Amino acid sequence: MKTIDSDKARRLLEGIGQGHLLTFWGELTPEQRGRLLEQIQQLDVRNIPRWVRETVKNEKPLVVPTEFEPAPSYPPVPQTPEQEKKYAQAKQIGEKLLREGKVAGFVVAGGQGTRLGFDGPKGNYPVSPIKKKTLFRIFAESVAAARKKYGAVLPWLIMTSPLNHKETVETFEVNNYFGLGKDTVFLFQQGTLPNFDFEGRIFLAEKDTIAVSPDGHGGSLKALYSSGVLAEMKKLGVEYLSYWQIDNPLVQLFDPLFLGLHVMEGAGMSSKALIKAHPLEKVGNFCLVNGRVTVIEYSDLPDEQARRRNPDGSLVFELGSIAIHILSREFVERLNADGDFALPLHRAVKKIPHIDLATGKKVNPDKPCGIKLETFIFDALPLSEKSVILQTIRSEEFAPVKNASGEDSPAVTERMMIERAASWLEKAGVKVPRTTDGRADCVLEMAPSFALTAEDVKANIHKVPPIRPGDTVYLE
Ligand code: UTP
Repeated sequence: MKTIDSDKARRLLEGIGQGHLLTFWGELTPEQRGRLLEQIQQLDVRNIPRWVRETVKNEKPLVVPTEFEPAPSYPPVPQTPEQEKKYAQAKQIGEKLLREGKVAGFVVAGGQGTRLGFDGPKGNYPVSPIKKKTLFRIFAESVAAARKKYGAVLPWLIMTSPLNHKETVETFEVNNYFGLGKDTVFLFQQGTLPNFDFEGRIFLAEKDTIAVSPDGHGGSLKALYSSGVLAEMKKLGVEYLSYWQIDNPLVQLFDPLFLGLHVMEGAGMSSKALIKAHPLEKVGNFCLVNGRVTVIEYSDLPDEQARRRNPDGSLVFELGSIAIHILSREFVERLNADGDFALPLHRAVKKIPHIDLATGKKVNPDKPCGIKLETFIFDALPLSEKSVILQTIRSEEFAPVKNASGEDSPAVTERMMIERAASWLEKAGVKVPRTTDGRADCVLEMAPSFALTAEDVKANIHKVPPIRPGDTVYLE
């Protein structure tokens, strides 16, 4: 496409109140001017005025439903003979789909990981207790183990953002795609959205660069389509995408039960859920709004609703969202078939480095100074007529690395990896030393090649040495 000229750019920008983006035009070299024009051309000029009006300048841009009820869900293990039958059938369906290679793994890794404060893609963060394997390596080994288990090439999709794509590709190149085969790993980029000051003016990150940030994990639904990866999956016969986040090394990448329930119910998008640790835990709440599964954010669920209890003491709104989903390929295709498909924009007040228009100097703010816009994947749930929720167990499947220390930090994740390995070994009859307060009194790491699930341990039990207090044991 031909880049627009500066007169046209000026007209376009002034028409939407963003003429200041050309403040430093006179100082720019021809290359810098070219780069800036390219970025201006990519701005969604038609929608920016509406975003400014409805979201940037509006502290409560999204309408929170007032009528909602708890969403139904499947328990982690069957509770009745009928359920037992259904789970067995679902598992068979899921396993068949995996054996037929009709499922791809899909991890979103385009985030900025600001809370962790790690330099580079979060997937390069070393998390495992003994070998210090990175998140990317753990998932790569899990994909390889699942391919072996099901005898099928299960493609792996990785969404990056323009901010970390190059480094992510480099990681995969340097590691020879972790032995998975370059043609079976699909790296593609999500889109970005401009950053605004509180008055709705787009920030300049540099004199020739518009400040943008990734458009949120919700951007994956568009990026899958616009990158051509979805069409590629269709060619390969992939019907379902198993979605997870880069920060959670405990996730079961390909869960036959979850897949099978999704298929049996004819769902477009399904979710795994946790029972919340306490009423106000900072996770989205699964609710039903007009009969559709909808996530209401913790900040939007009124306290009195969050604290409501059933006669048996359980919370009425007990299901927390943990960003593990199944997406039917056709569901994502259908969403994109309407060219104007857009998820609601959420606003986040952030510190945004920018160029001061008056002085031309770079500002690194020490307090929030503007708005980033993002979309969330769970906002697509109500667009699916049917949607399954399967409960999972925290210690089995959810240990996200979010913060540098404290809650959801690498130290917690590492501990949970050790404890899960200990519990899987004990389930298979291995004696694991424990401290008086019940923690595993040893450092354990289980490679995905050793076991992907607790049931897999039995087949490799002969590889487990006697474990004494204080031992360090790596199992592969
Ligand atoms: P988080 O909401 O934890 O955001 O992302 P983050 O960017 O990783 O971390 P902070 O908030 O800056 O500390 C949850 C998942 O969604 C992905 C992340 O990579 C992570 O897997 N994500 C988030 C994207 O892929 N793109 C985005 O634009 C945002």
